Amino acid sequence: MIDHEALRRRAQELLADDVFAYYAAGAGAEVTLAREARAWDDVLLQPRVLRDVSRTTTVTQVLGHPLAAPVLVAPTAAQRLAHPSGEVGVALAARGTGALMVLSMRSSTPVEEVGAVGPFWQQLYVLRDRGITDEVARRAAAAGALALVVTVDTPQVASKRAGAPAVLPPLGIVPALDQRDVDDPRLRQAPDVGPHDLERLAELSGLPVVAKGVLSAQAARDCVAAGAAAVVVSTHGGRQLDGVVPSPVALPQVVEAVGARVEVYVDGGVRTGSHVLTALALGARAVLVGRPVLWALAAGGSHGVSALLAELTEEVREALVLAGCRSCADVGPDLVRR
Ligand code: FNR
Repeated sequence: MIDHEALRRRAQELLADDVFAYYAAGAGAEVTLAREARAWDDVLLQPRVLRDVSRTTTVTQVLGHPLAAPVLVAPTAAQRLAHPSGEVGVALAARGTGALMVLSMRSSTPVEEVGAVGPFWQQLYVLRDRGITDEVARRAAAAGALALVVTVDTPQVASKRAGAPAVLPPLGIVPALDQRDVDDPRLRQAPDVGPHDLERLAELSGLPVVAKGVLSAQAARDCVAAGAAAVVVSTHGGRQLDGVVPSPVALPQVVEAVGARVEVYVDGGVRTGSHVLTALALGARAVLVGRPVLWALAAGGSHGVSALLAELTEEVREALVLAGCRSCADVGPDLVRR
């Protein structure tokens, strides 16, 4: 099994204090962050028995794109702060293990360099300057993005605890938005982000839009009504409104509301094969993993991320086998005790 605590400790030893604090922090009093660390383990699984699982497979698809396992790399900002290989290192690891990377708009590498490695999804914040937002979407589409992941839970960046910068530590990393000044107010998240933004981004890019950061049936319905082709149930890793419902608790209601029409993904505290199995049993199509990728990148560069993703795939395979499932599609709600 992946030793997440050891990975995190190793990253802490290697990273500058403010970078580690920026990656590790949650918002506010970190209530959501603490809840989410337990919430997956609080869901009780009940396996099937007497099933032939000799040919169990972890392969699946998201929006028609094949994955080796139902795991995507969550968008996290400024990966070159973790390791010089940064976003390219993560993209290589994702390609090598059959995972899919979601590239943050706050990337420290130009999108074209990531696109040269292979397919990816581009995360976007709707910025106060719609022109710059649209330009990033068009560049991502031209660089080979297969979908746009529009983060809808961030009308502004939430405050973090003392010692943890809310935005990028000032280490001179050039953001993906090219030479522009990180403190330029036009690059801040738009407080008036609305349904029309999702519609416009889908139209101008010709790509499916995935809405990231829904925690209720109504929020999910609003995003689907605005044209979202999929939604991500997410607390933003406990980094936006503090005190919100943990993702595994919110997930079933979102699946019930929109799961028949669009794919539903989930993130926040997903660490083990059992957690992934739980997510599938609660109706998710796939999970996203955030901080463990940053710790693995810091500790071992691209190879570290490859090892993490390969090990997680193996954990998913074992969880499927032990639950009596032959594939991701074979997982059902009967595996969870309500
Ligand atoms: C994030 N996350 C995030 N989300 C997003 O939509 N755009 C972004 O740029 C970032 N940046 C970011 C930086 C850091 C340091 C963290 C930890 C997280 C949220 C991320 O995509 C995801 O929702 C969570 O990280 C998932 O939770 P875990 O796996 O980190 O527990």
